[in-house]
Amino acid sequence: MKKKNSTCKGIILAGGSGTRLYPSTLVTSKQLLPVYDKPMIYYPLSVLIQAGIREILIISSPHDLPRIEELFGDGNHLGLKLSYAPQPAPNGIAEAFIIGEKFINGDPVALILGDNLFTGPHLQALVQKAAETTSGATVFGYEVQDPSRYGVIAFDENGRPKEIIEKPKNPPSRYAVTGLYFFDHNVVNIAKTLKPSSRGELEITDVNRVYLQNSKLNVTIIDRGYAWLDTGTADALHKASAYVQTLQERQGIQIGCIEEEAYKMGFINEDQLLQLAERYSSNSYGHYLSNLAPGKVLTKS
Ligand code: TTP
Repeated sequence: MKKKNSTCKGIILAGGSGTRLYPSTLVTSKQLLPVYDKPMIYYPLSVLIQAGIREILIISSPHDLPRIEELFGDGNHLGLKLSYAPQPAPNGIAEAFIIGEKFINGDPVALILGDNLFTGPHLQALVQKAAETTSGATVFGYEVQDPSRYGVIAFDENGRPKEIIEKPKNPPSRYAVTGLYFFDHNVVNIAKTLKPSSRGELEITDVNRVYLQNSKLNVTIIDRGYAWLDTGTADALHKASAYVQTLQERQGIQIGCIEEEAYKMGFINEDQLLQLAERYSSNSYGHYLSNLAPGKVLTKS
């Protein structure tokens, strides 16, 4: 498949309180906890890279932001242009567009939550297509057993999205809206018109509803061949780690490997990949990276 650099920008929203993971998140950001062999935030970052997005804003709490910046820096080593902005309090997912207004600067933008893990056979094609759409919004619907924890999509008799309801007591379907969204430039003005919900947050569901009412919301269903995993509780985090370990060991592939995705997208060349691999030359992550660059060897082993 042809790999494209997108004009779409990206935001990773990696703040929040992480109270369901206390005490593990008392002093550390949830998004820096490992999911098996790498920090949680690698997984959403790898999705934006697969979408062809190079300009990315990472938003987190003032407390956690410096550690995330320490991890990724300016992103140049991955062929990315990373910037950082604080969210003083978790005022809701849609606040990301208000915080990110200057960064977005009239371009289309993808938003991914820093604790969402996606994997699947055609993920790259799906997200590249969404990133190339410059008008309207694209969200992804995923069938879950417990839809009432999420924004849920109701469909009409022709299978078109009819309504999106946040955490419904009686869900109209089992299709939850995942934590990955693509919007045109109108999203900033839409976010600015929102009023906090009864739980005091600027709701992403309210943004999606505006696009739906304007017939500008595309809902792409990601089917059972894909995984969209939650990492918000100790049990979910443990299961996500086990899932990643199982797939990686069984298939000899990496999930959420930002260096690999940057290399495959042509954001970095073979020499740059090998330099990154050097740093991890004592472990299987480093060996995996160096094996992606055929004909070259690590100086250390
Ligand atoms: P949530 O799971 O709603 O909240 P949380 O991570 O703070 O966890 P808990 O319920 O255990 O206290 O958030 C989903 C993701 O969105 C998560 O990555 C944090 C992020 N987020 C923000 O960065 N800012 C916000 O204002 C909100 C609401 C969420």
